[in-house]
Amino acid sequence: VLSEAKQEVMKTVETTYRLHHAGDAVNPASCFLRFPAKPDSRVIALPAYVGGDSETAGIKWIGSFPRNLSSGLPRASAVLILNDYETGRPYACLEAAGISAARTAASAAIACTAVCAEGGEEPAAWLQRASAGFVGAGVIARAIATYLQQAGLGLSDVICHDVTQPRAAAFSRWLAGELNAADCRTADLDAALGQDLVVFATTAAAPYVPPGTRLRPGQVVLHVSLRDLAPEILLASNNVVDDVGHCLTARTSPHLAAELSGSSDFIAGTIGQAIAGQLRLDPGRPTIVSPFGLGVLDIAVGRLVYERARADARVIRVPDFIAS
Ligand SMILES: NC(=O)c1ccc[n+]([C@@H]2O[C@H](COP(=O)([O-])OP(=O)(O)OC[C@H]3O[C@@H](n4cnc5c(N)ncnc54)[C@H](O)[C@@H]3O)[C@@H](O)[C@H]2O)c1
Repeated sequence: VLSEAKQEVMKTVETTYRLHHAGDAVNPASCFLRFPAKPDSRVIALPAYVGGDSETAGIKWIGSFPRNLSSGLPRASAVLILNDYETGRPYACLEAAGISAARTAASAAIACTAVCAEGGEEPAAWLQRASAGFVGAGVIARAIATYLQQAGLGLSDVICHDVTQPRAAAFSRWLAGELNAADCRTADLDAALGQDLVVFATTAAAPYVPPGTRLRPGQVVLHVSLRDLAPEILLASNNVVDDVGHCLTARTSPHLAAELSGSSDFIAGTIGQAIAGQLRLDPGRPTIVSPFGLGVLDIAVGRLVYERARADARVIRVPDFIAS
């Protein structure tokens, strides 16, 4: 369903950011299940409610096991439960790694469009001409590239970087083959950081881009993996997040920047504010978007997938799953 509905996913994600910004959504803190013997792995619960025209509640339960890659499995796997808002009864269980990747990528593309306009140039013109650097070449990088192209990114000058070079090379070939990207190549981290648009989608647990790394005014950094940049870099940039309270937890770079500076003043505002045209950014600084990843987006996109599947008779019914 998702591959046929990219524009609808983008619209749903944008509407949900507006609802969240207007206070017509409930997004409690994510709950992290961690394992002492496997510090790199976790399973996260993201419950949420979205208001608006199609009130929906539910929860995403997503596992992240980076070592899966060595056995040929994806890092993330997930299910999503939708609850009826009238009765509270669960009515659908959806595979959600795809939903999660799509909402993450759509949110990155929407945020990029909203903040690149701050320089005074039309977003469409900026996206068409912007060179791009991808750091981390996994599932999420592919999804983000797909949605950025949908939003208008020209993909005419792309650098791919990954600590595992063959993954960068495979991503570069995929961009050329699947998205018809014109000039794709692999290169080191510094080269990727020199591009107009930089996307971080790694599994780094702690910052490795050192303090003192110079980004340019007007550069847009989609810091989707949240823990790549030294906090000092954030303190010298415009910072946009999806939800301030959420982002300042879980040892993200914004969390470290808040600890280092003693406040959250370094955050210019939220993606919701940017979409609503209520955000003013300093044109003399680069802009870093750090989206924590809101459960409201999963619920809204999950609902879209459910409605589309139901319309196409693709829902599998399980009679008497819950006794009436
Ligand atoms: N903010 C959000 O809403 C959100 C949502 C979904 C996923 N994510 C995050 O996106 C990240 C990527 O997810 P994925 O499913 O693509 O993972 P993946 O395992 O498929 O790919 C990650 C890639 O990053 C590479 N990598 C790891 N450390 C690196 C480093 N220091 N420099 C360069 N490359 C490095 C790995 O080799 C791998 O190819 C994860 O950290 C995940 O938690 C964020």
